[in-house]
Amino acid sequence: MIRDLGDGLVLRASTPADAEAMAAFVGDVLRAQDSDEPNHHMSAWTRDLHEGRHPTFRPGDCTIVADAGGRIVSCLHLVTQTWTYGGVPIAVGQPELIGTSPEYRGRHLVRAQFDVVHGWSAARGHPMLAISGIPWFYRQFGYELAIERGGGPGVRRDAIVPLPPPPPAWRVRRATVDDAAFLADTYTAAAARSLVSVPRDATLWRYELTGHSADSAQRRGVLVLERDGHTVGYITHGLELFSSGSLVVTQFELTAGVSWREAWLAALAPLFEAGDAVAAGTPVGRCTALSFWLLGREHPLDRVFRFQERDDPYAFYVRLPDVATFLRAVTPALERRLAASVCAGHSGTLTLGFYRDGVKLAFERGKVTVLEGWRPDIAVRGLEFGRTSPDARRPVAMFPDLTFLQLVFGFRSLRELEAAFPDCVVRTNEARALLDALFPRTPSDVWPVL
Ligand SMILES: CC(C)(COP(=O)(O)OP(=O)(O)OC[C@H]1O[C@@H](n2cnc3c(N)ncnc32)[C@H](O)[C@@H]1OP(=O)(O)O)[C@@H](O)C(=O)NCCC(=O)NCCS
Repeated sequence: MIRDLGDGLVLRASTPADAEAMAAFVGDVLRAQDSDEPNHHMSAWTRDLHEGRHPTFRPGDCTIVADAGGRIVSCLHLVTQTWTYGGVPIAVGQPELIGTSPEYRGRHLVRAQFDVVHGWSAARGHPMLAISGIPWFYRQFGYELAIERGGGPGVRRDAIVPLPPPPPAWRVRRATVDDAAFLADTYTAAAARSLVSVPRDATLWRYELTGHSADSAQRRGVLVLERDGHTVGYITHGLELFSSGSLVVTQFELTAGVSWREAWLAALAPLFEAGDAVAAGTPVGRCTALSFWLLGREHPLDRVFRFQERDDPYAFYVRLPDVATFLRAVTPALERRLAASVCAGHSGTLTLGFYRDGVKLAFERGKVTVLEGWRPDIAVRGLEFGRTSPDARRPVAMFPDLTFLQLVFGFRSLRELEAAFPDCVVRTNEARALLDALFPRTPSDVWPVL
């Protein structure tokens, strides 16, 4: 037991013996919105985690709140992974599969588990945590919606009738483990478009191809595109249709020098066939649309077909336990961006205030020489009007609450933040140019290893 929560409730770490009960619990609480049916895909994924099929998750990496009868009433899983930021590897903790039985909600059971799991995450040295989660809720635990997620287009099947013929010499087939090295190379090259991405080498691709149980919510269909007998691209898709009958395409990537237009034409019929295979035996019966939402807003496919439909993007939550520690970890990425900017070779200091705390950076000819936690001094003279000031105790740029994270993760430009938050104030044009150089708005494509 980690903590006695009173009323017969205990908070403890999971053990392998919890696998079956946990699978049932998660399938029950994480069902689709307003659904009468438990989600068996969530159950299968949970069972995979607890039975040790995931590359890094261990059965003890989950907190459970159990009632006096030993029944699970709340849970929170922590999945450790390596992501990259501007190409720099970062250890990330991802809280996932979080839920409380309806009759126990609002009793701070999730809050109590975050206390424990944030301690585990600190002990594992995660400079960053991320959650794909419901709106607003995780802000309460120090998270900010800060990495763009999705926002790509979609197409209805009846909008492209008849299907254009596939270009000659193209073939689309299911991937096998023998494709793992190709998939890893092509995926890695595509990750260069993203500020934040999740590296997958051939071993992780083999996990994606064969490591999930058949019913898992995390299993993907993987198709390989061939031209003239050579592998030139791949597509991954979900194995559940959206209720509207959409097949969700989660990745679509090509090797350099291959036509996106041809690949699009080659992929259309196989994607609808894949969708029909997923639909068979479900109430939907037939794949009625393709959703490219998860490819994001700036994917090359958007430039080879005039999509008529699109849903708004969402976001990943991010928590940085210590902003300075994170920025220190990604300093090589910051220095690279600075070197490629109008502020190349910059020398000077930059104090960032988050009103109660902050960060100080110093640069010497484009290299970061100081990066540390810093406190704006409240004993300065007079009101704060955001004007230039000779007093170094005042921050040069001010960001309310956790909004600075939106800048760090390329989610909003500085100008967008200043427009949205009147208390986001930048005192000098030098600071503005420097912040634009260090933190430009940049898309991210994050496919966590789950
Ligand atoms: C969201 C959920 C996990 C919250 O669990 P919980 O045990 O009620 O959470 P806590 O009591 O620790 O929540 C802390 C605070 O948030 C409030 N809260 C709970 N659920 C909330 C929600 N959906 N939206 C906003 N606030 C919520 C609580 O009332 C509490 O408020 P307080 O601090 O002012 O007293 C639970 O409602 C649930 O299982 N929902 C369905 C599944 C789900 O959406 N899971 C999350 C997937 S990302």
